Amino acid sequence: MPTLLIIIASTRPGRVGLPVARWFEEYAGRHGGFDVKVADLAELDLPLLDEPHHPRMGQYTQEHTRAWSRMVGQADAFAFVMPEYNYAMTASLKNALDYLYNEWNYKPVGLVSYGGMSGGLRAAQMVKEVVTTLRMMPLPEGVGIPFVSQHIKDGAFQPPELVVESARVMLDELARWAGALRTLREPV
Ligand SMILES: Cc1cc2nc3c(=O)[nH]c(=O)nc-3n(C[C@H](O)[C@H](O)[C@H](O)COP(=O)(O)O)c2cc1C
Repeated sequence: MPTLLIIIASTRPGRVGLPVARWFEEYAGRHGGFDVKVADLAELDLPLLDEPHHPRMGQYTQEHTRAWSRMVGQADAFAFVMPEYNYAMTASLKNALDYLYNEWNYKPVGLVSYGGMSGGLRAAQMVKEVVTTLRMMPLPEGVGIPFVSQHIKDGAFQPPELVVESARVMLDELARWAGALRTLREPV
């Protein structure tokens, strides 16, 4: 069974990202196609990139980088639960991506984006440009959640039906890509 790593991109106290990620983790678990794990960037607390070498070399000097490398390296697929800040991805997500290189290569990523009217789509489009440089496959089948705060009740995210359906489609596609891209990661 492929491992899906859900990355929580917001680090703000009181973030909406946490209830959205909790729902998505539970839903992805019920999907049945993945061994689901979560990386919370707030808990991980990576400093701004503090490695002297290009990540392609894998010559890490910091324990936090080695821990992050193990977590990402063990994953077969990713889902980013990400808000839009000023029409862009969060700085914490960009920083976490920049830390590594080979660990991301040839793995698919599904984007669960949220925000106001835009549903975080501008940030999602921006992430696609970055992750393809890391040789990842960002799926066209994403989950966009407009007016996300309207769907938080008593601290829990209550997804509209369209969001649930798009999550199902995205997880199905992630499972397909995870299987196909695994062959590219095998040594030739
Ligand atoms: C610094 C900042 C910038 C924001 N910029 C946008 C934006 O460009 N588009 C948008 O739809 N919402 C924007 N928002 C509103 C967020 O969508 C909303 O605050 C959401 O709850 C943020 O996710 P989080 O709570 O998980 O951090 C912004 C919020 C913050 C804190």
